[in-house]
Amino acid sequence: MSLHTAAITGIGAYVPEEKLTNFDLEKIVETSDEWIFSRTGIKERRILPKGLGLSYMGERAVNQLLEKTGTDPLEVEMIICATITGDYVFPDTANQIAYKVGAKNAFGFDINAACSGFLYSLHVGSKFIETGTYKKVIVIGGDVMSSIINYEDRTTCVIFGDGLGAVMLEPSTNGEGIKDSKLCADGSGVEFLQTFAGGSKQPIDAEALAAKEHLVFQNGGPVFKRAVQGMSSTVKQVMEKNSLTQDDITWILPHQANKRIIQTVASMLDFPIERVMVNIENYGNTTAGTLPLALSDYESQLKLGDKLILTAFGGGFTWGSTYLTWAYNGSEV
Ligand code: UT7
Repeated sequence: MSLHTAAITGIGAYVPEEKLTNFDLEKIVETSDEWIFSRTGIKERRILPKGLGLSYMGERAVNQLLEKTGTDPLEVEMIICATITGDYVFPDTANQIAYKVGAKNAFGFDINAACSGFLYSLHVGSKFIETGTYKKVIVIGGDVMSSIINYEDRTTCVIFGDGLGAVMLEPSTNGEGIKDSKLCADGSGVEFLQTFAGGSKQPIDAEALAAKEHLVFQNGGPVFKRAVQGMSSTVKQVMEKNSLTQDDITWILPHQANKRIIQTVASMLDFPIERVMVNIENYGNTTAGTLPLALSDYESQLKLGDKLILTAFGGGFTWGSTYLTWAYNGSEV
């Protein structure tokens, strides 16, 4: 039993200025605002200008986080960045962000768990706080999905967007913070959601480039089914293990992949949709970015002691749920 819990003590976020609306997409592929909105709940997404990379968003979100929490960058001991679209194949982006914000005493690394990356990273980061190893750990989740999207494929280009959020983890002695997580993985999911080329199995060559195999492929139907199963079952497991009823939980925050997935999960859990965080309309699916971006959007409504369950599902497959209590009054930030 550890002496303290790892609490989220602040949030920073960044989304690019440029918007790509459903009406813009109507001009690019055979689609319609009506189809996109009714099937996904998305109206627009943000697009990062080419040449900037994930660390551009990370630097801005982390600087905001440092300012909001009154933290000197030299105090930060560790930075974990959940992403599948880092600046480079190597080196990692966590250390690029540390360098850009002047976190000279921090070390870090990236975690590649697609849409579940923020939950995986939160879990890992929280252990360094719980064990007393570190006192200030930054966990980032974000993606530049526009860098790996095929804008000729209407089944994927309407869904994804760019954005990033970052949270500070610090020790709490009054029990607030991350309480429990149930995280899962099933590598057989690779056939449904991946980029075929660009890794060591299939480096990008002329053939792969011509076939656009370096860009996202998704077979959406099976992913949809597994997503609702994976998220609802792990929320239930976490609730049961921690003796939580629907009434105990203030908010459920699901990964923002598709509004119909979110609604189905809420209905499978018999949980009121009014207490489910939803901001997919504005950003689409930002992969590792959706959870911290939604926390940022809802921060002013969050109160000390609120009970939250975060849940996600993504490429891998990876999925899971995390139960935490909120450590500050968001309206006072
Ligand atoms: O974050 C990682 C995890 N990812 C997810 O959780 C995504 C899960 N999957 C989904 O969200 C949905 O499966 C999609 C949004 C990707 C697709 O929605 P759907 O309701 O499952 O559509 P569908 O794939 O069954 O396609 C239905 C029809 C097809 O036409 P036919 O075969 O019925 O003639 C598609 O070709 O809709 C067509 N279609 C489109 N039409 C207009 C597919 N994409 C589009 C589009 N615009 N953008």
